[in-house]
Amino acid sequence: MRKLVLSVAVALLSSSLFADEGMWVLPLLKQQKFAEMQALGLKLGDLEVYNAEGPSLKDAVVRFGGGCTGEIISPDGLVLTNHHCGYGSIQRHSTLEHDYLTDGFWAMSRAEELPNPGLTVTFIDKIEDVTDYVMEALGKISDPNSVEFLSATYLNGLAKEKVGEAFLRENPGTEVEIKAFYGGNKYYMFTKKIYSDVRLVGAPPSSIGKFGADTDNWMWPRHTGDFSIFRVYADANGNPAPYSESNVPLRPKRWLKLSLAGVEEDDFAMIMGFPGRTNKYYTSWEVAERRDIDNAVRINIRNLRQEAMLEEMLKDPQVRIQYASKYASSTNAYKNAIGSNWAIRKRDFERVKAEEQQRLIAWSNKMCEPAYPEALLSLEKIVNDRKDLRFRSWMLDEALVRGIEFSKVPTDIEPLCQALSGKDKASRAESLAAFEQAYKRFADKDYAPAVDKKIAKVMLKEYRRLVAPESAPAYFSVIDSQFKGDVDAFVDYLFDTSIYGSQANFERFKKRPSVKALREDPMILFAQSVKDERKALAKALADFDAGYAIAHRTYVKGLLAMHGELASFPDANSTLRLTYGQVRGYSPRDCDFYGHQTTLDGVMEKEDSTNWEFVVPARLKELYKAGDFGPYQMPSGKMPVAFCATTHTTGGNSGSPVLNGNGELIGINFDRNWEGVGGDIQYLPEYQRSIIVDIRYVLFVIDKYAGAGYLLNEMELVKE
Ligand code: ARG
Ligand code: ASP
Repeated sequence: MRKLVLSVAVALLSSSLFADEGMWVLPLLKQQKFAEMQALGLKLGDLEVYNAEGPSLKDAVVRFGGGCTGEIISPDGLVLTNHHCGYGSIQRHSTLEHDYLTDGFWAMSRAEELPNPGLTVTFIDKIEDVTDYVMEALGKISDPNSVEFLSATYLNGLAKEKVGEAFLRENPGTEVEIKAFYGGNKYYMFTKKIYSDVRLVGAPPSSIGKFGADTDNWMWPRHTGDFSIFRVYADANGNPAPYSESNVPLRPKRWLKLSLAGVEEDDFAMIMGFPGRTNKYYTSWEVAERRDIDNAVRINIRNLRQEAMLEEMLKDPQVRIQYASKYASSTNAYKNAIGSNWAIRKRDFERVKAEEQQRLIAWSNKMCEPAYPEALLSLEKIVNDRKDLRFRSWMLDEALVRGIEFSKVPTDIEPLCQALSGKDKASRAESLAAFEQAYKRFADKDYAPAVDKKIAKVMLKEYRRLVAPESAPAYFSVIDSQFKGDVDAFVDYLFDTSIYGSQANFERFKKRPSVKALREDPMILFAQSVKDERKALAKALADFDAGYAIAHRTYVKGLLAMHGELASFPDANSTLRLTYGQVRGYSPRDCDFYGHQTTLDGVMEKEDSTNWEFVVPARLKELYKAGDFGPYQMPSGKMPVAFCATTHTTGGNSGSPVLNGNGELIGINFDRNWEGVGGDIQYLPEYQRSIIVDIRYVLFVIDKYAGAGYLLNEMELVKE
């Protein structure tokens, strides 16, 4: 009987929202979820988490660069984020003599902290519901097919109008942005303060910060110390200012306390951050499209590309270094697509979404609301009608644009052609120099023509196998007309004869540059043709995009009307959200069970000095042997490394603070398990886990491993 009651309860639950599902918008949190959070273990009042009128926890959470999250952890503007979020900055400061990627970096004084031009840290000062304001403006647009309701340019124009130019002038570094939620059924305005003097303070070696690399990426159990530390600088008044020696560390409104108490199974945990993009409101047809076109093309093409790349990487250590980062970013989205399709199939997302559609149709019929079922018909038709274009577009992007590096050779030859046709020697020399610069940016230190050539052959064969000749870039016709369909011969010809085919070819061209050579260069023609085809496809798809946006908005409006506005949360859109849940392991398959906490023992178990992904630094081994874990160890005496929780996160949540019931920092979010990435479409309570580096491991590495314990002096550590 009890079992029956339980399964009824579970069934009821699963028909609506799962307990830990949700990326909540802060202004609605109190009405929507606060009671539930407190029941689960949150000890703070709502105003301590989010307060529209004064400082709250949310003021310690920042957007780090363009795609990650970070958190402020000291009154002097220290920011924590992931190693993979700081990776680009760490790499740019690295040279053969100072290889910070390999060896790590620690500023031993503030003077040693390294500036990073282009890197920003963004605070969200204010969040306002501006739905009425935006709807009123949109009401003045007469074109029924207008998609201004999603246009960033249009919406940000409205935001500027709302606050006025004077406000922006008086507040340097402040920007306003209006974002569409629920497909354009609701709008929030964000007042942001953007700091652009952000300096690198510390990073562990990659053998800690990226331990397990691609093999362990999207995997639990995990043993990566994925963190790095920066500091925000401001002018003397605390305002954003470009890098200057006279800038001073920012005195932030809020910073987080760090907890040494650790986590236990079922403990409450919450995460604030900037999730990028989810597709909770997909229809069943879009689920199928994602599975059969988007994900399928990506999996097929990247698998072939990575195989070819890896073969070359294993043969040549030079290539291994050159292609490490390209390989990593390729496999990152590849593994995600595999996990996504696994979940779509195993959990039958098509049916789950179809049932939701059926509920909406039945409800609409009862309520006499024909617009919602009509929107569904439109969506079904659009997805069906765009099939071919979408497939071609994904094939083009994956196989040609991303797959073949030389499809991105510089094609802007006009300035040089003109200079060469003229008589002016100086402008010829100048144009030629600019042309060479562009070539060098393309053929940089990480470009290996032999690898590109090998991969291009594989990519082109697969592309031609799957895409009809009349649907391919126009230039591809020469493969049949001049090379009898022999792709290998065609690619060899490109490398043999193009200006860009080799350094030697380029030098030869430089000695006798000619307009004819430029205009007839086969790689330039190839690249230009791929670009043209991409443009044509985007244009053809734009009509569908507009119809889609309009129908999607109506569909989501229907769901909001049926379920009630407060029952749901909007898809991720790179705005500040909160998710909460519990610390918990999971079972990936029958009779296989994963715990919630990993330890340094696991690092040693995975150690493999012959495999770059699993090398353990000598100093870490010494500390392990000596059991020298200081105050960071668990009661059992083991050294914690990472833990996982049921929180609902996605890409963009990397670097997000993970907080306990007191609002203290217990870890930094950095990944998900691959069985859980389907949660971008449908939350998976039994599978989806956020992967989090334990704050005690972070502090141990700073203090014991790196000897940068002085940084701890400016932090607030909480022992109990
Ligand atoms: N999978 C994680 C996130 O998307 C981490 C990616 C970085 N790590 C890597 N090995 N590529 O995006
Ligand atoms: N690793 C992701 C990120 O970089 C997080 C995730 O996809 O769960 O944001």
